[in-house]
Amino acid sequence: MSLLGSISKESVIGTAVLGCAFAAGLWAGSRQSSSHTGFQGAKNTILGSNNVLLQYLLENSLREHPALKKIRLTMEHPYHFMMVACEQAQLMANLAKLIKTKKALEVGVYTGYNTLNMALLLPDDGKVVACDVSEEYANIGKPIWKEAGVEHKIDLRIKEAVQTLDELIAAGEAETFDFAFIDADKESYDHYYEKCLKLIRKGGIIAIDNVLFGGRVLNRTNDICGQVLHDLNQKILRDHRVNMSMLAVGDGLTLVFKL
Ligand SMILES: C[S@@+](CC[C@H](N)C(=O)[O-])C[C@H]1O[C@@H](n2cnc3c(N)ncnc32)[C@H](O)[C@@H]1O
Repeated sequence: MSLLGSISKESVIGTAVLGCAFAAGLWAGSRQSSSHTGFQGAKNTILGSNNVLLQYLLENSLREHPALKKIRLTMEHPYHFMMVACEQAQLMANLAKLIKTKKALEVGVYTGYNTLNMALLLPDDGKVVACDVSEEYANIGKPIWKEAGVEHKIDLRIKEAVQTLDELIAAGEAETFDFAFIDADKESYDHYYEKCLKLIRKGGIIAIDNVLFGGRVLNRTNDICGQVLHDLNQKILRDHRVNMSMLAVGDGLTLVFKL
C-alpha cells in the first residue's frame, strides 16, 4: 500500500486492471540486474541470476537508438519493471523489418519503448496502433517519440485494448497488419491472440510477451494468470493456423507466424 500511496488514482485503477502484470512485474523488478552490472535498465531474463552473462549479452549485441535509450532510462517510474526487455525489442524490430512491416499493433504501451521501437523502423507512411488504458504512462514517452520525429506514425488509442482491436476489425482492417506485440493484462491474452490473428496478414508475426511468466506457468494452483498463459501456450502449440517458436528471452517470448 505504501507504494500505491505515492501515485495517482489513475495509476491505481490501471494497476487493478493490470492485476497479473503487476504481480509478474514485481517478480521481474525484484530480480533487476541493472544496479550492479553497469547496464542501466536491463531487465532480468531467463539467464536468471547470472547477471554477468546478461551484461555480456547486452554489451555485445545491443544497438539501441538514442531515443529508445532515453525511454529505458525513465527508471524512476514506479512501474518501470513493466518495460519490455531491450534485447527482446531489438529482436522484434529485426523481425518486423525482415517482413517489411508497414502496419503494427502494440497491445500494452506503458511508456512506449516498443511503440517507439516499431515507429522507428516503419516507413514514413507506416503506422503503429498503440493500445493502452492509461495515458499517464504514455505521456512519459510522448515527448521522446516527438523528439525522435516519429510521433506521426503512432496512433495511440486510450481504451480497453479489446475494444480497439474490435473497432479495427469492424473498420475492415482485418488481415492488413504485419506485426503485433501482445503485452497487456494477462487475463485477456487469449482474446488478444484471437483478435490479432484476425488483424494480421498471412506471413505476419504476432509476438507474445511473458509466456513463461517468471515460472508461474509451472505452478498454477490458485494462479489465474499462470493458468491463462499456460492454456494459451498449449493452444498455440496445437494451433494449425500458425507456425510458432517459444524463446527464452525476457520473461519468455512466443513468436507466431500466421499461415
Ligand atoms: C507490460 S506493460 C507494456 C510494456 C510495453 N509493451 C513496452 O514496450 O514497454 C503493460 C501495459 O498494458 C496496459 N494495460 C493493462 N490492461 C490493459 C487493457 N485491458 N487494455 C489496454 N491496455 C492495458 C497497462 O496500462 C500497461 O501500460
